[in-house]
Amino acid sequence: MKTLAERAVEVLTTADGRAKAALSRQHAAEWFAAREAGAPLTVGTADPPLRPSRPARPELLPPRDVPRRRPGTAEGRIALLHAVAHIELNAVDLHWDIIARFGHVPMPMGFYDDWVKAADEESKHFNLMCDCLEAMGSHYGALAAHAGMWRAAEDTASDLMGRLAVVPMVLEARGLDVTPGMIDVFRKAGETGAIAALETIYAEEVGHVAYGSKWFHFLCGRENSDPKEVFHGLVRHYFHGALKPPFNEEKRAEAGLPPDFYWPLAEEIG
Ligand SMILES: [Fe+2]
Ligand SMILES: [Fe+2]
Repeated sequence: MKTLAERAVEVLTTADGRAKAALSRQHAAEWFAAREAGAPLTVGTADPPLRPSRPARPELLPPRDVPRRRPGTAEGRIALLHAVAHIELNAVDLHWDIIARFGHVPMPMGFYDDWVKAADEESKHFNLMCDCLEAMGSHYGALAAHAGMWRAAEDTASDLMGRLAVVPMVLEARGLDVTPGMIDVFRKAGETGAIAALETIYAEEVGHVAYGSKWFHFLCGRENSDPKEVFHGLVRHYFHGALKPPFNEEKRAEAGLPPDFYWPLAEEIG
Protein backbone atom coordinates (compact mmCIF):
# COMPACT_ATOMS: atom_id res chain seq x y z
CA MET A 1 0.00 0.00 0.00
CA LYS A 2 1.42 3.38 -1.02
CA THR A 3 2.06 5.83 1.82
CA LEU A 4 0.37 9.22 1.95
CA ALA A 5 3.70 10.96 1.23
CA GLU A 6 4.22 8.78 -1.87
CA ARG A 7 0.71 9.64 -3.05
CA ALA A 8 1.47 13.33 -2.52
CA VAL A 9 4.54 13.04 -4.77
CA GLU A 10 2.44 11.29 -7.43
CA VAL A 11 0.10 14.29 -7.53
CA LEU A 12 3.01 16.75 -7.58
CA THR A 13 4.67 14.95 -10.51
CA THR A 14 1.47 14.76 -12.62
CA ALA A 15 1.59 17.58 -15.19
CA ASP A 16 -1.89 17.71 -16.73
CA GLY A 17 -4.30 19.79 -14.65
CA ARG A 18 -7.40 17.59 -14.94
CA ALA A 19 -5.27 14.45 -14.37
CA LYS A 20 -3.61 16.04 -11.32
CA ALA A 21 -7.02 16.97 -9.90
CA ALA A 22 -8.43 13.47 -10.54
CA LEU A 23 -5.48 11.72 -8.86
CA SER A 24 -5.67 14.15 -5.95
CA ARG A 25 -9.38 13.38 -5.41
CA GLN A 26 -8.75 9.64 -5.67
CA HIS A 27 -5.95 9.72 -3.07
CA ALA A 28 -8.12 11.83 -0.77
CA ALA A 29 -11.03 9.37 -1.06
CA GLU A 30 -8.70 6.45 -0.25
CA TRP A 31 -7.15 8.30 2.71
CA PHE A 32 -10.56 9.03 4.26
CA ALA A 33 -11.92 5.54 3.52
CA ALA A 34 -8.93 4.00 5.32
CA ARG A 35 -9.34 6.45 8.22
CA GLU A 36 -13.02 5.54 8.57
CA ALA A 37 -12.22 1.83 8.42
CA GLY A 38 -9.84 2.31 11.36
CA ALA A 39 -6.84 1.28 9.28
CA PRO A 40 -5.18 4.59 8.34
CA LEU A 41 -2.58 4.73 5.59
CA THR A 42 0.99 5.26 6.74
CA VAL A 43 2.00 8.91 6.33
CA GLY A 44 5.67 8.14 5.59
CA THR A 45 8.29 10.46 4.18
CA ALA A 46 9.14 11.34 0.60
CA ASP A 47 11.42 13.43 -1.52
CA PRO A 48 9.12 15.85 -3.33
CA PRO A 49 10.38 17.80 -6.36
CA LEU A 50 11.39 21.42 -5.71
CA ARG A 51 8.71 22.42 -8.23
CA PRO A 52 5.61 20.44 -9.22
CA SER A 53 4.99 19.24 -12.77
CA ARG A 54 2.73 21.52 -14.80
CA PRO A 55 1.18 21.35 -18.27
CA ALA A 56 2.96 22.93 -21.29
CA ARG A 57 0.11 25.47 -21.37
CA PRO A 58 -0.61 28.01 -19.88
CA GLU A 59 2.50 29.94 -20.69
CA LEU A 60 3.89 31.33 -17.42
CA LEU A 61 4.86 35.01 -17.44
CA PRO A 62 6.09 37.48 -14.82
CA PRO A 63 2.99 39.07 -13.24
CA ARG A 64 3.59 42.46 -14.92
CA ASP A 65 3.52 40.77 -18.34
CA VAL A 66 0.23 38.91 -17.80
CA PRO A 67 -2.26 40.93 -19.88
CA ARG A 68 -5.03 42.61 -17.88
CA ARG A 69 -8.54 42.70 -19.26
CA ARG A 70 -11.50 44.71 -18.06
CA PRO A 71 -13.99 42.62 -16.01
CA GLY A 72 -16.91 44.41 -17.72
CA THR A 73 -16.34 42.25 -20.81
CA ALA A 74 -16.81 38.52 -21.42
CA GLU A 75 -13.12 38.37 -22.29
CA GLY A 76 -12.28 39.97 -18.95
CA ARG A 77 -14.43 37.50 -17.05
CA ILE A 78 -12.74 34.59 -18.84
CA ALA A 79 -9.37 36.05 -17.82
CA LEU A 80 -10.55 36.28 -14.21
CA LEU A 81 -11.70 32.64 -14.13
CA HIS A 82 -8.47 31.58 -15.83
CA ALA A 83 -6.46 33.31 -13.12
CA VAL A 84 -8.53 31.58 -10.42
CA ALA A 85 -8.08 28.19 -12.14
CA HIS A 86 -4.33 28.76 -12.06
CA ILE A 87 -4.44 29.65 -8.35
CA GLU A 88 -6.50 26.51 -7.61
CA LEU A 89 -4.09 24.22 -9.48
CA ASN A 90 -1.23 25.75 -7.55
CA ALA A 91 -3.18 25.23 -4.32
CA VAL A 92 -3.65 21.50 -5.09
CA ASP A 93 0.14 21.20 -5.28
CA LEU A 94 0.71 23.37 -2.20
CA HIS A 95 -1.45 21.17 0.03
CA TRP A 96 0.15 17.91 -1.16
CA ASP A 97 3.57 19.55 -0.87
CA ILE A 98 3.10 20.35 2.84
CA ILE A 99 2.30 16.65 3.39
CA ALA A 100 5.27 15.39 1.36
CA ARG A 101 7.86 17.95 2.42
CA PHE A 102 7.45 17.98 6.19
CA GLY A 103 7.00 14.27 6.89
CA HIS A 104 10.00 14.45 9.24
CA VAL A 105 8.08 16.76 11.60
CA PRO A 106 5.88 14.60 13.86
CA MET A 107 2.28 15.84 13.64
CA PRO A 108 -1.07 14.44 14.82
CA MET A 109 -3.22 12.58 12.26
CA GLY A 110 -5.63 15.53 12.18
CA PHE A 111 -2.94 17.58 10.44
CA TYR A 112 -2.98 15.16 7.50
CA ASP A 113 -6.78 14.93 7.51
CA ASP A 114 -6.97 18.71 7.15
CA TRP A 115 -4.48 19.05 4.28
CA VAL A 116 -5.83 16.05 2.40
CA LYS A 117 -9.32 17.56 2.68
CA ALA A 118 -8.00 20.96 1.55
CA ALA A 119 -6.20 19.35 -1.43
CA ASP A 120 -9.40 17.52 -2.38
CA GLU A 121 -11.36 20.78 -2.25
CA GLU A 122 -8.76 22.64 -4.35
CA SER A 123 -9.01 19.85 -6.94
CA LYS A 124 -12.76 20.35 -7.02
CA HIS A 125 -12.24 24.14 -7.31
CA PHE A 126 -9.86 23.67 -10.25
CA ASN A 127 -12.40 21.43 -11.98
CA LEU A 128 -15.18 23.96 -11.33
CA MET A 129 -13.12 26.77 -12.86
CA CYS A 130 -12.24 24.58 -15.88
CA ASP A 131 -15.93 23.72 -16.33
CA CYS A 132 -16.85 27.45 -16.26
CA LEU A 133 -14.10 28.32 -18.74
CA GLU A 134 -15.21 25.54 -21.09
CA ALA A 135 -18.85 26.66 -20.83
CA MET A 136 -17.66 30.12 -21.94
CA GLY A 137 -15.78 28.68 -24.93
CA SER A 138 -12.31 28.80 -23.37
CA HIS A 139 -10.14 26.43 -21.33
CA TYR A 140 -7.33 26.37 -18.78
CA GLY A 141 -4.16 26.97 -20.79
CA ALA A 142 -5.76 29.32 -23.32
CA LEU A 143 -4.25 32.43 -21.67
CA ALA A 144 -0.94 33.24 -20.03
CA ALA A 145 -0.69 32.82 -16.25
CA HIS A 146 1.31 34.15 -13.32
CA ALA A 147 4.79 32.57 -13.06
CA GLY A 148 5.53 33.46 -9.44
CA MET A 149 2.98 31.24 -7.71
CA TRP A 150 5.38 28.60 -6.41
CA ARG A 151 7.78 31.11 -4.90
CA ALA A 152 6.20 30.95 -1.43
CA ALA A 153 6.62 27.17 -1.44
CA GLU A 154 10.29 27.36 -2.39
CA ASP A 155 11.01 30.09 0.14
CA THR A 156 9.48 28.04 2.96
CA ALA A 157 10.65 24.58 1.82
CA SER A 158 12.57 23.98 5.03
CA ASP A 159 10.31 25.77 7.53
CA LEU A 160 6.90 24.32 8.35
CA MET A 161 5.84 27.27 10.49
CA GLY A 162 6.96 29.65 7.75
CA ARG A 163 4.91 27.64 5.24
CA LEU A 164 1.78 27.82 7.42
CA ALA A 165 2.27 31.54 8.04
CA VAL A 166 2.74 32.47 4.38
CA VAL A 167 0.53 30.02 2.46
CA PRO A 168 -2.76 29.52 4.33
CA MET A 169 -2.52 32.50 6.72
CA VAL A 170 -1.39 35.15 4.19
CA LEU A 171 -2.07 33.95 0.63
CA GLU A 172 -5.26 31.96 1.17
CA ALA A 173 -6.53 34.63 3.60
CA ARG A 174 -6.05 37.16 0.77
CA GLY A 175 -8.45 35.01 -1.26
CA LEU A 176 -11.12 35.67 1.39
CA ASP A 177 -10.58 39.43 0.90
CA VAL A 178 -10.94 39.46 -2.89
CA THR A 179 -13.49 36.73 -3.68
CA PRO A 180 -16.66 38.71 -2.78
CA GLY A 181 -15.67 41.40 -5.31
CA MET A 182 -15.11 38.73 -7.92
CA ILE A 183 -18.54 37.21 -7.24
CA ASP A 184 -20.05 40.70 -7.79
CA VAL A 185 -18.46 40.88 -11.24
CA PHE A 186 -20.28 37.69 -12.27
CA ARG A 187 -23.49 38.76 -10.53
CA LYS A 188 -23.56 41.96 -12.64
CA ALA A 189 -23.11 39.82 -15.75
CA GLY A 190 -25.82 37.35 -14.62
CA GLU A 191 -23.46 34.39 -14.99
CA THR A 192 -25.04 31.99 -12.53
CA GLY A 193 -22.66 29.06 -13.13
CA ALA A 194 -19.60 31.09 -12.21
CA ILE A 195 -21.40 32.65 -9.21
CA ALA A 196 -22.22 29.21 -7.79
CA ALA A 197 -18.67 27.92 -8.37
CA LEU A 198 -17.07 30.98 -6.74
CA GLU A 199 -19.46 30.76 -3.78
CA THR A 200 -18.38 27.15 -3.21
CA ILE A 201 -14.74 28.23 -3.35
CA TYR A 202 -15.36 31.16 -0.97
CA ALA A 203 -17.11 28.96 1.61
CA GLU A 204 -14.44 26.25 1.55
CA GLU A 205 -11.44 28.58 1.59
CA VAL A 206 -12.40 29.75 5.10
CA GLY A 207 -11.61 26.21 6.21
CA HIS A 208 -8.15 26.24 4.63
CA VAL A 209 -7.19 29.44 6.42
CA ALA A 210 -8.56 27.93 9.63
CA TYR A 211 -6.41 24.79 9.20
CA GLY A 212 -3.37 27.02 8.78
CA SER A 213 -4.17 29.01 11.91
CA LYS A 214 -4.98 25.84 13.90
CA TRP A 215 -1.69 24.07 13.11
CA PHE A 216 0.36 27.26 13.41
CA HIS A 217 -1.00 27.76 16.93
CA PHE A 218 -0.42 24.09 17.68
CA LEU A 219 3.28 24.34 16.74
CA CYS A 220 3.70 27.57 18.71
CA GLY A 221 2.09 25.90 21.72
CA ARG A 222 4.43 22.94 21.40
CA GLU A 223 7.45 25.22 21.67
CA ASN A 224 5.79 27.61 24.12
CA SER A 225 6.16 30.67 21.90
CA ASP A 226 3.82 33.62 21.30
CA PRO A 227 1.93 32.92 18.03
CA LYS A 228 1.43 36.57 17.10
CA GLU A 229 5.12 37.44 17.54
CA VAL A 230 6.26 34.34 15.66
CA PHE A 231 3.77 35.01 12.86
CA HIS A 232 5.00 38.60 12.41
CA GLY A 233 8.62 37.45 12.31
CA LEU A 234 7.98 34.70 9.76
CA VAL A 235 5.84 36.83 7.43
CA ARG A 236 8.45 39.61 7.49
CA HIS A 237 11.13 37.05 6.71
CA TYR A 238 9.41 35.02 3.97
CA PHE A 239 6.68 37.16 2.41
CA HIS A 240 7.63 39.63 -0.28
CA GLY A 241 5.28 42.59 -0.49
CA ALA A 242 2.61 44.29 1.55
CA LEU A 243 -0.48 42.81 3.13
CA LYS A 244 -3.15 44.80 1.34
CA PRO A 245 -6.24 46.17 3.03
CA PRO A 246 -9.21 46.16 2.90
CA PHE A 247 -9.27 42.89 4.83
CA ASN A 248 -12.31 40.65 5.16
CA GLU A 249 -12.23 40.90 8.93
CA GLU A 250 -15.37 38.83 9.44
CA LYS A 251 -14.19 35.80 7.43
CA ARG A 252 -10.65 36.13 8.75
CA ALA A 253 -12.05 36.01 12.30
CA GLU A 254 -14.14 32.96 11.40
CA ALA A 255 -10.89 31.32 10.21
CA GLY A 256 -9.04 32.09 13.45
CA LEU A 257 -7.04 35.09 12.19
CA PRO A 258 -7.43 38.02 14.61
CA PRO A 259 -6.79 41.60 13.42
CA ASP A 260 -3.61 42.01 15.48
CA PHE A 261 -2.02 39.27 13.32
CA TYR A 262 -2.38 41.08 10.00
CA TRP A 263 -2.89 44.84 10.60
CA PRO A 264 0.62 45.54 11.95
CA LEU A 265 2.11 43.84 8.85
CA ALA A 266 -0.03 45.90 6.49
CA GLU A 267 1.42 49.03 8.04
CA GLU A 268 5.06 47.96 8.22
CA ILE A 269 5.76 46.07 5.00
CA GLY A 270 5.88 48.14 1.87
FE1 LIG B 1 -9.42 26.76 -3.61
FE1 LIG C 1 -7.50 26.92 -0.44
